[in-house]
Amino acid sequence: MKDDQGFAVAVVGATGMVGRTMIQVLEERRFPVRRLLPFASARSAGTAVLFRGKEVPVAGLTESALRTCGADVALFSAGASVSRQFSPVAAQAGIIVVDNSSAFRMDPDTPLVVPEVNPGALRGHRGIIANPNCSTIQMVVALKPLHDAYGINRIVVATYQSVTGAGRRGYDQLMAEVEGRHPDTQKFPHRIALNLIPHIDEFDENGNTREETKMVRETVKIMGDPGSRVAATCVRVPVTGGHSEAVNIECARPVDVQQARELLRNAPGVVLVDEPEKARYPMPADAGGRDEVFVGRVRRDPTVPNGLSLWIVSDNLRKGAATNAVQIAERLVADGLLGNRRAAG
Ligand SMILES: NC(=O)c1ccc[n+]([C@@H]2O[C@H](COP(=O)([O-])OP(=O)(O)OC[C@H]3O[C@@H](n4cnc5c(N)ncnc54)[C@H](OP(=O)(O)O)[C@@H]3O)[C@@H](O)[C@H]2O)c1
Repeated sequence: MKDDQGFAVAVVGATGMVGRTMIQVLEERRFPVRRLLPFASARSAGTAVLFRGKEVPVAGLTESALRTCGADVALFSAGASVSRQFSPVAAQAGIIVVDNSSAFRMDPDTPLVVPEVNPGALRGHRGIIANPNCSTIQMVVALKPLHDAYGINRIVVATYQSVTGAGRRGYDQLMAEVEGRHPDTQKFPHRIALNLIPHIDEFDENGNTREETKMVRETVKIMGDPGSRVAATCVRVPVTGGHSEAVNIECARPVDVQQARELLRNAPGVVLVDEPEKARYPMPADAGGRDEVFVGRVRRDPTVPNGLSLWIVSDNLRKGAATNAVQIAERLVADGLLGNRRAAG
């Protein structure tokens, strides 16, 4: 790529688990990056991230630094409060924001996009595009072809979520506990090694956690079907590599299990791993580092009319966050929605 081609890409939260993965995914997918602009907190200013074999200095995030950085697109992944303050600043400066936090997901004017499921939603964007929650993304990628064929009325999901979904501190806590060290910081409310915790984010007055409510609301927004009903239980498990989900669906029309397998085999972004007799089914140990959503254990649920059970696994840092954000940016490029603005400095 010549120096004047491609796009200036800001990554906000560049030193975090998702931000680092974003930079890796931009490189792997050969996104046309003319200039990488990594931002993090003031603590990280002066450190560097690796991109295409070179160290790129990290800048401390300030409104003026963002306004004048000359980015065409900014991938945000530094938490909801950072996004609430800085995403509108970037959007006002003409930078298209792909925001990985929960800050704007349920805003009716903000598209919530999974490219395999609702790419058309991008067209109405007003400068900020939201990336869904990691657990939601992998579920809707797998359920989309089944919804199109059978009309899903109800979804019951239990998640088994990797510690990497809680960021660096979550990963560090598990590793310290596994190695018998005292963790520097306690990310989870309990020990996570040799344990699991049915509690992700805060509880509401009805006894649901915010993670569960996100899955319910985001799924309905993305599937574009207010008639869909979702019940979710989200659980943190002492696992790295990806999130797993046990999902039961109830459909409007009769479901043929073999046909459902074929639909999943041919669905974009899905890999069917469903040979239980050979002990082959999706597992986070195999999904880590991959971009696809893995589906297996597909079988009839005989307890409801037109019911199906399935098991869904994906790398939460990649398809659940970084890869989905980069795919959105790729769509913006393909649809001519990303301007070729030139860097100021
Ligand atoms: N982990 C996942 O699977 C996942 C999936 C989907 C969405 N997300 C969302 O992605 C975001 C980041 O998650 P993560 O797992 O990467 O967390 P993380 O590993 O804890 O990283 C947080 C990043 O945010 C930066 N940051 C913190 N405060 C900042 C500030 N005031 N100004 C600028 N940068 C700041 C940190 O910079 P320093 O290094 O300087 O502190 C770091 O780069 C969160 O909104 C999370 O909900 C995560």
